[in-house]
This record gives sequence, structure tokens and C-alpha cells, in this order.
Amino acid sequence: EKGGYDWFMLKEIAEQPQAVADTLLGRLGDDGRLLLDEVRLSDQELRDIDKIFVVSCGTSFHAGLIAKYAIEHWTRIPVEVEVASEFRYRDPVLDRSTLVVVISQSGETMDTLMALRHARDQKARTLAICNVNGSTIPRESDAVLYTHAGPEIAVASTKAFLAQVVACYLVGLVLAQIRGIKYADEVAAIVEDIRRLPDEVSVVLGRMEPVRELGRSLADADTILFLGRHVGYPVALEGALKLKELAYIHAEGFAAGELKHGPIALIDQGTPVVVVVPSPRSRESVHDKVVSNIQEVRARGARTVVIAEEGDEDVVPYADHLVRVPRTPTLLAPVLTTVPLQVLACEIAAARGHDVDQPRNLAKSVTVE
Ligand code: F6R
Repeated sequence: EKGGYDWFMLKEIAEQPQAVADTLLGRLGDDGRLLLDEVRLSDQELRDIDKIFVVSCGTSFHAGLIAKYAIEHWTRIPVEVEVASEFRYRDPVLDRSTLVVVISQSGETMDTLMALRHARDQKARTLAICNVNGSTIPRESDAVLYTHAGPEIAVASTKAFLAQVVACYLVGLVLAQIRGIKYADEVAAIVEDIRRLPDEVSVVLGRMEPVRELGRSLADADTILFLGRHVGYPVALEGALKLKELAYIHAEGFAAGELKHGPIALIDQGTPVVVVVPSPRSRESVHDKVVSNIQEVRARGARTVVIAEEGDEDVVPYADHLVRVPRTPTLLAPVLTTVPLQVLACEIAAARGHDVDQPRNLAKSVTVE
């Protein structure tokens, strides 16, 4: 049933173009109208939203962090992102004009469900992004957008994550549309770019052999650091989480700009540092700043693994290993840049002799608080 792959995780990584395509299917209508699956809210109620919380756990939390960049940019509604286990314990300010977006692959995660119930008790509007039809979280939400990633067997989430990120883009675009779009041209263009993502994920997958080889060569590392900036920051967090949970190696993800405020002290001779580089077209020259960070860590002995867009030549002198992803708008890049990090974690874990699909101490669905 693993379809010729050694692990379900590898099979599910390979299924990502389909997971993304299926999640988009029928939703980017040619008439320009974007739709959610179930909406027990009126357009007026959605127009009245003036604040959004995205609440989820683990990998789904990282999808939420990416959602913030896209939803704020397209809708100009402030978005806060929080892990579900913290959310309801700090008495968040919620009312009828607040939308709480919960993201859950399983739809049964207790922390997320409790956060959702708390939001409802406080009269907030709720929207679920979920991969399992009819599970508890979507049943209890006012609106639902299903990710169509198909069943995910491996404990570590991969294809569901990519589908969640894409679903978050759709939620942002739906809200932008309902509220009257400020950037109509930009949104129309982004829809075209989103349509290209499945093929671009396939392109990235076609380049994974050197990444697997690199993974095998990193099997003895005792710490691996991940750096990113803007939407690359949640990608760095996700790369580090995958490595921790599968390979049992200490890993941390940092916002690249924070490096000089502490983490750079961790860099030693040979420390592997994975850097998710923003597009050279991103705002405010964050690209150049990240290139400087690569230079800085390398000068201190780091072994650099650089994930960068095709055509970005600035990174070449500082990359011990270079993985290329197709050019895409900055906000969409996580759908591509996450893939090599998944493959890397899977390969390192396998090289260390671990059960990639069933990591120790972890369960697929966490139904206790
Ligand atoms: C990591 C992983 C977990 C889940 C988290 C939330 O690979 O799988 O971090 O993402 O337990 O689960 P869901 O999305 O089912 O609520």
C-alpha cells in the first residue's frame, strides 16, 4: 500500500502536487467567484469581521503562521496566530466581529477543539480548515473549507500541510472578495500563480535526489539550525519540527533577523544551517539581508544548505549545498520551499535507522489536552 515507497511519508510527500491540485479543484472559479464548502454565515457577517485569530497546533500552527502574511496582505484585516493550547487560557478578546480560523488535519485535536469551543462561547465567528470530512472540528464550526489531501497515514504531516497552506490562501482570497478587493489586479494575478503550484511542486520533487544524499550525509549531526524570513520563517520552524519529530535531532528554526540577537553563538565548525531564502523580488531587500546572514554563519564555520529561487545567483558563493525552487510570488513560496525540508528530515531519520512513519512518543491524532 506504500505504492513502491519505503515509507508512507515518502509516498505522501510525492502526492503533494495532487493534494494541492485537489484542494484547489472547483474553488478558483472561472467566473472569479471563490467559495467555501459550508458557510453558516452571511456575507454581511463576513464583511463585518475586523479581527482574525488563527489557532492550531504543531504543523497546522505553522500553516497558520503563513496564513497571517497572506490574509493580512490581501484583506488588511489584522491577524493573530496562536497555538491552541495557549489561546483560551489567556482570555483573548473575542466578539461577533472576530473570526477564529482553526486549522486541523484530523479535525479531532483536543487543544484545537477546546479553543474552538471557547471562541464560540465568546460569540466569535468560526471557520475550520480540515482534512477529515465530518470530523468534530468542522461539525462545530460556522464555516468550513476542506483540504483534499486524502488520508494521511504517516504521523508526520506533509501533504496535509501543503493543502492547509493553499486553503489558507483561499480563505484570504474569499474574504478579500467578500469585502471588496483592494488589490483586484493583484488578486487576479495571484489566482493564476496559485493554479501553477501543483506543477511547480512536481518540479521541486524532481530535484530531490541530491537532497536525499545530503540527508544521509547529515545523519550524524547533533544539531541543525533553520533560518528563514517573512513566510520563510514558518517554513524554517516546520523544517525544524519535522527533523525533531522524525530524526530525534535537536533542531531550531529562527527568524533570520534574530540571528545576531543570540542564536549565532550556536554556530560551530560544521554546524549544518538550512536557510530558506526569500525571493530577490521580495519587499524591503529582505533577500539581501538573508544572503548576508548566510555569509555570516558560513564565516563562523557553518555548513550551509540553501533553498533559493531559480536565477538567484547571489547565494551561490555561500551555499555548500543549493536547492532550487521555481520562481513564484513571495507569499506562495512556502508551498515549494517546505518540500526539500520534508525530504531532508525523512532521509536523515531513515539513515539513523528510525521508523519514519511511526516516530517514538507521537500519535497521529492528539485527542487529549
Ligand atoms: C507534525 C504533526 C503534528 C500535528 C498536530 C496537529 O508533523 O503532525 O504537529 O500537526 O498534532 O494536528 P491536527 O492538524 O490534526 O490538528
